[in-house]
Amino acid sequence: MVVSFVESCPSTQEELIFMLKNAVITPPYALVASTQTNGVGSRGHSWQSDEGNLYFSFCINENDLANDVETASASIYFASLMGEFLKSCGSKLWIKWPNDFYLGDKKIGGVITTKIKSVYVCGMGINLKKSPSFANILDIDISVPNIVDGFINYLNLKISWKQIFSKYLIEFEKSRVFNTHIDGELTSLRDAILLNDGSIMIKDKKVYSLR
Ligand code: BTN
Repeated sequence: MVVSFVESCPSTQEELIFMLKNAVITPPYALVASTQTNGVGSRGHSWQSDEGNLYFSFCINENDLANDVETASASIYFASLMGEFLKSCGSKLWIKWPNDFYLGDKKIGGVITTKIKSVYVCGMGINLKKSPSFANILDIDISVPNIVDGFINYLNLKISWKQIFSKYLIEFEKSRVFNTHIDGELTSLRDAILLNDGSIMIKDKKVYSLR
């Protein structure tokens, strides 16, 4: 995968989507910035974070993933790969449903994934050096290039969704004490049923993670 490092950009995610749509790049491709000025988060929120933290987006064709990764599962799949890599480096992070990086009860980062035709564009932000007081930072000392490199190595292993999901299923129990936004409403995950594609059934409604 070609990895491009830039000093600053409004949003690695928006930039990568633009480059993909305008055929400036072809997947697989990754863009990493030292800082972002107008980052995007999930559900249309902005993502503001400090210099020294991770701002990483990559795109990959669906055919280059393990063949049991469905669209509905992609964001959880990518978050889990990053989670597995960082745990292998000693971190105690975990993934709160659907794809937030947590340390204890505090968020340390998140993932957004968009699909453009057959290409996934995934963006990850992780607090490495600084965080707002309500959040936390990663519990291991690792450089941005090493995280990106380690993640790409995990991605290249083409680990099956089945294998990733078997671990995610166990970790999901930790999410039950949390609430999540469903149709703009804060809803408890206590009674949610995790389905095989990573979506949940909650109040008789199926809620997907690709968002
Ligand atoms: C979330 O809201 O939890 C997801 C945040 C994702 C932020 C990352 S930072 C790198 C990439 N570029 C963006 O503008 N957003 C994602």
